[in-house]
Amino acid sequence: MTGRIAVVTGAAGGMGRAISRKLVQSGLTVVGLDIDADRLAATGDGLGDAFVARIADLTDETAVNRAFDDIARDQGGVDALVNNAGTCFMSDFPDIPADEFNRQMAINFSSAFYCCQAAIKLMAGREGVRKIVNISSNGAYNFDVFDPPHYRASKAAMDTLTKDLARRYASDRIAVNSIAPAMTETPLFGVLSDDVLQKAISAMPHGRAMQADEIAAWVDFLISPAGDISSGNVIILNQGRDVR
Ligand SMILES: NC(=O)c1ccc[n+]([C@@H]2O[C@H](COP(=O)([O-])OP(=O)(O)OC[C@H]3O[C@@H](n4cnc5c(N)ncnc54)[C@H](O)[C@@H]3O)[C@@H](O)[C@H]2O)c1
Repeated sequence: MTGRIAVVTGAAGGMGRAISRKLVQSGLTVVGLDIDADRLAATGDGLGDAFVARIADLTDETAVNRAFDDIARDQGGVDALVNNAGTCFMSDFPDIPADEFNRQMAINFSSAFYCCQAAIKLMAGREGVRKIVNISSNGAYNFDVFDPPHYRASKAAMDTLTKDLARRYASDRIAVNSIAPAMTETPLFGVLSDDVLQKAISAMPHGRAMQADEIAAWVDFLISPAGDISSGNVIILNQGRDVR
């Protein structure tokens, strides 16, 4: 299939860059959304017209709608949306400031919610099974590791949105899934102290963190025709760490 348009949020980050580049390799045109203009431009290095950078603060609904209006005008529609923008704030309960809690929910969950609302309208009338892939986290499911509760809750909210939209849009042929990775080597590792990071990596069964390219391959699979028959699933990627 040619001429498919994917929107990848957080496309300037570790996972977003790998996902964007993988989808371009698979023949899609990727519109990368991020707040970080310099790193977003670097994601497009060597990709030519197949990568379009758009700067937006995705916690701002107006900015999201403006970005998708531009996509409607310039690309004509959306075939796939990857909600990947996110961060992990590390204050711990019961001393998480209200402002940090609100920012955590806004960056990880509200951004995805706004993007789903805008993208689904632009998926109408497109060919084939259209796709939404939400980048969740093992932190919503594994309570042995370090993740603070506002981070876990933001990803659990995202996964409930995945299931709602999967059910709501199944007969419209929009497939919605979450991918929930564990430790993946990206700039986000910088929020952890060395001790916490080493402990979390040593708990990985393969003795190493996962790589952004490994997650990108799963996103690409879901967006490929092979992914057409999966919807409403939360796919846990953690080398088998939490099997009991
Ligand atoms: N790295 C891991 O181990 C890991 C594990 C589980 C889940 N995740 C999830 O993977 C996703 C990608 O994370 P990453 O590891 O690549 O981190 P990253 O920090 O490298 O990338 C995150 C990107 O999101 C962008 N972003 C943040 N706030 C934004 C906003 N308001 N508007 C637009 N863009 C914004 C950042 O600029 C950055 O480019 C996140 O949702 C994260 O929660 C990561």
